[in-house]
Amino acid sequence: MTHNDLTFKQCNEQELIPFELLLLADPSKKLIDEYLKTSKIFVVEKNEKVIGTVVLQIISEILCEIKNVAVLPEFQGQGIGKYLIENITLVARQSNFRTIQIGTANSSIGQLYLYQKLGFELSEIRKNFFIEHYNELITENGIQAKHLLMLTRVV
Ligand code: ACO
Repeated sequence: MTHNDLTFKQCNEQELIPFELLLLADPSKKLIDEYLKTSKIFVVEKNEKVIGTVVLQIISEILCEIKNVAVLPEFQGQGIGKYLIENITLVARQSNFRTIQIGTANSSIGQLYLYQKLGFELSEIRKNFFIEHYNELITENGIQAKHLLMLTRVV
């Protein structure tokens, strides 16, 4: 799939934070507000409309984390998620990070498929993360989201 009609760019401080998108990936506005303080927001635009976002947080000199990746529902399944992750990995490489990580729930089957297909490997399980950090019960694919699975790849 070619993406010649897409533009990937970092959001500047004057631009609106794409909360509509961020909340698709993370239902906790409180957690989003917290990690945005130490993260950079990138967006993908099509015909000047923001259709997806990816948030990168610096963890250490060599490690960064994709805290949030989301595509508007009407644009999902067209390779945009893959495009966002590939572009943010390039940003991480150009910024001299060595490793990039991404966390998702045990119930996020499609996301686990996508991240592993893009070269991420399971590195850690944070048991009961979703039970401890979210007030509401989260269920996907008929499975309760309980644990956070962290995946990493060399950039
Ligand atoms: N179920 C099954 N397969 C999926 C799913 C899914 N939910 N999402 C992506 N895939 C597969 C596609 O079939 C495709 O496979 P292929 O290359 O073999 O054809 C591959 O992954 C790439 O898919 P894209 O079209 O690039 O994915 P998309 O543009 O839909 O973006 C994303 C994926 C970001 C997960 C999107 O579906 C989305 O915004 N979902 C809601 C928010 C969300 O869950 N975000 C991730 C939370 S975790 C975090 O943010 C760190």
